[in-house]
Amino acid sequence: MALAAALLGALLLSAAPAPGVPAASSFPIGDRIYPMLGQAGLDVRHYDLDLTVARPGTLELRGEVTLTLAATRPLAAVALDYLGPAVQEVRWNGAAQAFTLDRAAGKLRVVPPAPLRPSETARLSVRYAGLAVQTPDLSLLTGWQAVPGAGGVGGANYSLSEPVGTRGFMPVNDHPSDPATFTVRITVPAGYTAAASGLETGVVSGPAGHTFTFEQAVPIPAYALAIHINRFVRVDSAPVPVGVGGAAVVRRDYFPAGLPPRVAESVRAPYRRTGEMLEVLAGWFGPFPFAAHGSAIVESPVPALETATLNTMPVRSSSERVLVHETAHQWFGDRVVLADWSDVWLSEGFATYAELLWAQAQGQDGGEVAAGWYARLQGRPTRPLAATSAEELFDQTAYLRGALALHALRTEVGDVAFRGWLRSYVAVFSGQPASTAGLLALTRRELGVRAEATLRLWAESLTLPPLSAPPS
Ligand code: ARG
Ligand code: ZN
Repeated sequence: MALAAALLGALLLSAAPAPGVPAASSFPIGDRIYPMLGQAGLDVRHYDLDLTVARPGTLELRGEVTLTLAATRPLAAVALDYLGPAVQEVRWNGAAQAFTLDRAAGKLRVVPPAPLRPSETARLSVRYAGLAVQTPDLSLLTGWQAVPGAGGVGGANYSLSEPVGTRGFMPVNDHPSDPATFTVRITVPAGYTAAASGLETGVVSGPAGHTFTFEQAVPIPAYALAIHINRFVRVDSAPVPVGVGGAAVVRRDYFPAGLPPRVAESVRAPYRRTGEMLEVLAGWFGPFPFAAHGSAIVESPVPALETATLNTMPVRSSSERVLVHETAHQWFGDRVVLADWSDVWLSEGFATYAELLWAQAQGQDGGEVAAGWYARLQGRPTRPLAATSAEELFDQTAYLRGALALHALRTEVGDVAFRGWLRSYVAVFSGQPASTAGLLALTRRELGVRAEATLRLWAESLTLPPLSAPPS
C-alpha cells in the first residue's frame, strides 16, 4: 500500500495539474439521493466477473473482475465504487497498476499511465479476496447475502443490491445511469448450483468444483445483476416467443432443493404462470428486452428484487402479484434505466401498475384496484413523485401514487393511446437514462399538452390529485 501511495503521488506530480485542478480529479455523477456514487464521464461497457465461493452460506469470496472502460470526457483518474474485500492486484490493460483504496469514500482509485480518452477503451482488472461487506440501506443490509445452511450443512449466497449494495462485493461504477453487459463465471463446490443474469453458456468441472458461466448480453444496471448459489432444483419451461422480433425467451426457475415438500409445492404455483405474465405484459409494453426470464427463490425474509432475467424471489413473497411486479421491472428499471435515484417512481410506479394490468387480464376490475390504492394513500402524507431522501425511495408514494399517475393518464387517453405511449417510452429509453422530465416531454409529443398536464399534476402536486380525470 505504501508503494502504491508513493507511485500515485509520483504520477500526480508528473501530470502537472493546472492550478486548482488536480490531474487526478474525478467527480461523482451527482445523484440527488446518493451524491457520492459513480464517476461522471466514465462509461463501463462490460464487466467480466469471476467469483469463487468455496464456502457457500458465508461471506467469504474471491473475485477477479475486468471492466471494459470508455469515457465521455478525458479521464486522468478512474474512481470505482468499492467497499469489498482486500484488493490483491490491479492491472491496467494487463500491466500491474498502482491504486488507492479510500475506505471512507468507498472508492478504489487508479491513475492510469495516460488519461483515458473518449475515443479509447481500456481494461481495468481487480483481484480481491476476503469477506464481502454489506451496506445498511434503509431497513436492510443490501449487497452480498449469506444464508447459513441448517445445522451448518449447505448454505446459500445471492446478491440483493438495490440501491447501492454491489460495491460491497465488486468494484463498480455503481449508478443506474451506466448500465453494462456482464459475463459472470461462478465457481462453487460440487453439489451446488450457481445462477446469474443472462444465458448459461457452460458448466465445467475442476479441482475447486464446478464453474458456471453466464452471458448477459443486453446492458443492465449493476444492482440488477442476479447472482445465486444454492442447492437448487432448476425447472426449465417452454420458451415464450415475446422477445425482440418474436425471439423465444428462455424460461428457467431455480427452487431451493431443501424446501420441505409441502412448502415446495405451494411455492412453485405462481411461477408456473410466468410465461402468461410475459405475454400479457409484452402486449402492453412491447417485446421482452432480454434473452431469458425466470426467478430464483431465496429462503430469507427480504424484499423481492427485479434482478435481470432472474427475479430474486423470497419464499414468503412467492405470489402472482409480486412476480408480475418484478417481471414488469425487467422493462422498467432493468432495460429503461434511471438517470437519478430520485426518479425511482419510474421503476416502482410502472411495476406496480403492471399488477393492475395482470389483475384485469384475470377478469378483475382495474378501477377497483386503483380505488384500493387511492384509499390506502388518502389521509396519509403525500409528496411529489420525485424523492428527496433515501427514506422516500421505496415508500407508498413511489409505488402507489406512481401507479395512479399512470392510471389517470390511461383513463384520460384510453387504452389504445396508453399502450402506444408505454411502447414509445420503452423504445425511446431502452438503455437510456430516463427521468420524469424526459417522460413528460415524450408525453407531450405522443399524447399532447393536456395529457402532459395530467401526468405533471400527478408528478408535482403537493396534495393527492383526484382519482378521476376532471371533466374537460
Ligand atoms: N425494487 C424492489 C421492488 O421490486 C424493492 C427493493 C427495496 N429495496 C430496499 N433497499 N428497500 O419493489
Ligand atoms: Zn418494485
